[in-house]
Amino acid sequence: MKVFINQRIPEVGLELLKQENIEIIFPKTENESREEYLQNCKNADILLNVGKNKFDKYFFNQCPNIKAIALFSVGFDNVDLNEATQRNIPIGNTPDVLSKATSDIAFLLMQMISRKAGYYMEKVKSGNWKDFDAVEQLGQQLYGKTLGIFGLGRIGFEMAKKCKNAFDMNIIYHNRNHNEQAENKLDAQYVSFEELIKTSDVISIHANYTKEQLVIFNQSIFDQMKSNCIFINTARGGFQNEKDLYEALESGKIWGAGLDVTNPEPMEKDNLLLKLSNVCVLPHIGSATVEARNGMAKLAAENIIAFSKGEKMPNCANP
Ligand code: DGY
Repeated sequence: MKVFINQRIPEVGLELLKQENIEIIFPKTENESREEYLQNCKNADILLNVGKNKFDKYFFNQCPNIKAIALFSVGFDNVDLNEATQRNIPIGNTPDVLSKATSDIAFLLMQMISRKAGYYMEKVKSGNWKDFDAVEQLGQQLYGKTLGIFGLGRIGFEMAKKCKNAFDMNIIYHNRNHNEQAENKLDAQYVSFEELIKTSDVISIHANYTKEQLVIFNQSIFDQMKSNCIFINTARGGFQNEKDLYEALESGKIWGAGLDVTNPEPMEKDNLLLKLSNVCVLPHIGSATVEARNGMAKLAAENIIAFSKGEKMPNCANP
């Protein structure tokens, strides 16, 4: 079996593949064109894909030799799963190992926004650090506030746990299903979507970006939020209408926003959101720790090894 790996991955994953004598193909140059990428996919049996390439009917028609795809991500919104399943192509993903790291970023953004860290960092950098001010530009405390989680799965659970332990926040959530672990361990309360957006002091998105969970946070939703509401998105940029988000933030309808994901990615440097002091944007670094990336490399390699032995991938997105 030939595996094409389209970008560098941590050594631990490569080692596992080499131990199984799996042949690995890498791009010949660092910035391969789309045509070169497709050519490499055509020559491979399995693809280990890093990044957001699309796997749809067009791709599968172009690369009929591909028998399995191991994604280097937990999300699989870039894959037409029905199409892959119909063609009997398993799609591996990398759940769990990045839940702590990704929720750390949500937690970090929440605190940066609540204490206006971006605003103050800019003050220091621009030489405008003035005397102590007792009343201007104060942050808001998170202790005892209400965290609303949209999509309470593995990452949402980790975020809720941190918020409960650190700030004794009251956890409410809206999800496709009830999450008993969160209800039992964190006293989390299932609420309607409407209640979530109207009563939360912090709203953090952790849903899968799938048709079933697709809600676009737009003007009519921002209008219903509390004026001190902090909007956090570490899931997928497609959940937010950025023009409406800008207006809600600029007009002070909501307190602030922390985004690790944007729509599109990368965000253009002249995006209006970047001009606001109550916004913090990170470049999709949720899983960017050594530990999480090693874990992802290991899971992706294990998926490939299982497939090459004719076994079911241990972490497979197909139903
Ligand atoms: C994931 O694993 O889904 C991350 O968002 C990287 O795409």
